[in-house]
Amino acid sequence: MTSPLLIAPSLLSCDLSRIGDEIRAVEAAGADWIHVDVMDGRFVPNITWGPPVVAAMKKAATKPLDCHLMIVEPEKYVDAFAQAGAASISVHVEASTHLHRTLQHIRSLGVSPGIVLNPHTPETAIEYVLEQADFVLIMTVNPGFGGQKFIESGLPKLERLAALIPKQGRRTRLEVDGGVTKDTAPRVISAGASILVAGTAVFGRPDYAQAIRDLRGSHA
Ligand code: DX5
Ligand code: ZN
Repeated sequence: MTSPLLIAPSLLSCDLSRIGDEIRAVEAAGADWIHVDVMDGRFVPNITWGPPVVAAMKKAATKPLDCHLMIVEPEKYVDAFAQAGAASISVHVEASTHLHRTLQHIRSLGVSPGIVLNPHTPETAIEYVLEQADFVLIMTVNPGFGGQKFIESGLPKLERLAALIPKQGRRTRLEVDGGVTKDTAPRVISAGASILVAGTAVFGRPDYAQAIRDLRGSHA
């Protein structure tokens, strides 16, 4: 791993009645990014929040807001999430028919573009758009809910992407989302991940700083 390890707590598992306080608490505890799960009840069987709520999160956050769009036709909403203050926007390859154009558009808004792969989607699906993305998010649960069990097949997928990226002469980062705990973290890191999303493993613990240290393990 060449890039420093980033920890991105997922607000899906925080106390939503105190979301501003929760953002400040994880930032004080050492979070690098704040992971924001946007769900529409169509792409995934759950609904969370839209651009106005992200704009409210932005008022509390000093760290980058990492917006993971689990919505159909994400291209229709990237402008609104950029306007709301997203630092990065990732879209599912399964949800965007013209993914290449969507990623270019995200970048044109001054936002960092990412591609997300569902557990069933092979890494080969993104071979020809990899150059348009700053990071690839590998789902290690089926998206929609926090607190699910880690899907093991994400590990060889990470390894294959970690091998493909330097072959293309790129430094695209690999992010992992779903079932990341202090037990699975060392395994995804050795497979090539340098950004870890964690909901339950941070907000489900009483001491967020200790939880983030546990996820980092020996990595700075
Ligand atoms: C799931 C979301 C995740 C979720 C992860 O659809 O994309 O970001 O919050 O939760 P944990 O870390 O509890 O698996
Ligand atoms: Zn997510």
